[in-house]
Amino acid sequence: MTADKTKRVLLEEDVPFHSARDKKSLSLKEYRGRGGYEAWVKALTRMKPDAVLSEVKNSGLRGRGGAGYPTWKKWEIVAGKEVPQKVLCCNGAEEEPGTFKDQILLRVNPHQFLEGALIAAYTVGAAQVILYINQKFTAEIKGLKEGLREIKALGFWGENILGTGITIDITLFESPVAYVAGEETAMLEVLEGRRPAPRQKPPFYPVHNGLYGKPTLVNNVETLSNIPHIIQNGSVWYKEAGTPESTGTALFTLTGDINQPGVYELPMGTPLRRLIEVQGKGIKGGGKLKAVFPGGPSCGVIAEKDIDVTLDYESLKNRGTAFGTGAVIVFDETACLVNAGLRIAEFFAEESCGQCPPCKMGGRHLADLHHKIESGKGEIEDLRSMEQICGVVKGRGYCSLITGASVTVESMVRNFRAEYEEHIKSGGCRLKEAKILRHLS
Ligand SMILES: Cc1cc2nc3c(=O)[nH]c(=O)nc-3n(C[C@H](O)[C@H](O)[C@H](O)COP(=O)(O)O)c2cc1C
Ligand code: SF4
Repeated sequence: MTADKTKRVLLEEDVPFHSARDKKSLSLKEYRGRGGYEAWVKALTRMKPDAVLSEVKNSGLRGRGGAGYPTWKKWEIVAGKEVPQKVLCCNGAEEEPGTFKDQILLRVNPHQFLEGALIAAYTVGAAQVILYINQKFTAEIKGLKEGLREIKALGFWGENILGTGITIDITLFESPVAYVAGEETAMLEVLEGRRPAPRQKPPFYPVHNGLYGKPTLVNNVETLSNIPHIIQNGSVWYKEAGTPESTGTALFTLTGDINQPGVYELPMGTPLRRLIEVQGKGIKGGGKLKAVFPGGPSCGVIAEKDIDVTLDYESLKNRGTAFGTGAVIVFDETACLVNAGLRIAEFFAEESCGQCPPCKMGGRHLADLHHKIESGKGEIEDLRSMEQICGVVKGRGYCSLITGASVTVESMVRNFRAEYEEHIKSGGCRLKEAKILRHLS
């Protein structure tokens, strides 16, 4: 398995979108040729679950599904539950606009993800593993099913794995195409046969009270894809990349007004400007940068003057935004930021599951006010209304969907107030529509 400092989970190459369609999955033979599944055999036959947990803890790995929660903490809680039935749910729902890293990971290296899932299940003592994968990822689902068949034949999962007496069963569930279906408790609802609607936390933290009440570990596809490397090469090697608090590498989905959009793996702590200029080959058509969503549409926008920031959890938080899912969306100076705000507010309003009134009504209100301003009928008072709504709804849902929406709208109005005011005064806009990519071809 590659011991490169900067390219780990994505193989040796980044994946610009122009080549994504032609990317072939690494076959089982190729994967094993690079040391694939050695970490699984090592963990299973030569390491106690405690030792695996320590290695993951020492690595400093944090969840890549959006919240950046330390991976070992959830593992430790589930591992410590002395009950016969525990579950691992692997989250590959990925419906956030501008985020395609999990799909690409599943496309280029499905076995790495399966190996990570097996190691996680062994460590926490989960005999049931569910791969929860967005139903629109048809090629990736096919590849995963094939991969599961291949490694079942090798005795890597199922009953009495490699004669150790350990049993791990794996099933694949095709998740609905709905953003909220990726929220971990909404996922549990879906798996139990209901519509995607998040549960209230507390008390429904999956680690304590998950699928049918069983302790359930939920981890993102990218998080799990890092695990085989940590076990194979060790936590010290893992931390050679990154910063002290944000260790390792991360996948960044770079989209928008950029010459070379794609999914790029870089060490945590890489300057945002470098990602845009080197991997992205600069702003499309040689234009000027105007704004960036550095962590996806639910983490807030930063203006050009603030883009000298490094891509890690701490620096982005200090800049008033967040790492999120590593979805970096770039706008050039000809893009209308009010239009970007409208698209994002409309997305959140449409995707709300509707069970919390602040989200159902507040989200719709934010979208409607954007429509009003965009169509030239806005009033200055509308900006104050938007800010007030954001202040009221933030933190008031069962899940963080409405908080993400309000953080972003607030940051749009704060950073681009003049542009909103210009729309209101002139009753229109001469700028182009803002591009926010929803689907990978
Ligand atoms: C509205 C919403 C949608 C989410 N969608 C996803 C998703 O598609 N994939 C994912 O891994 N996490 C998603 N999350 C985060 C999950 O709830 C959960 O934190 C994550 O899967 C945990 O994995 P990690 O610790 O490995 O990051 C979403 C959260 C929210 C609030
Ligand atoms: S915050 Fe919104 S999406 Fe989340 S549970 Fe409440 S209504 Fe549903």
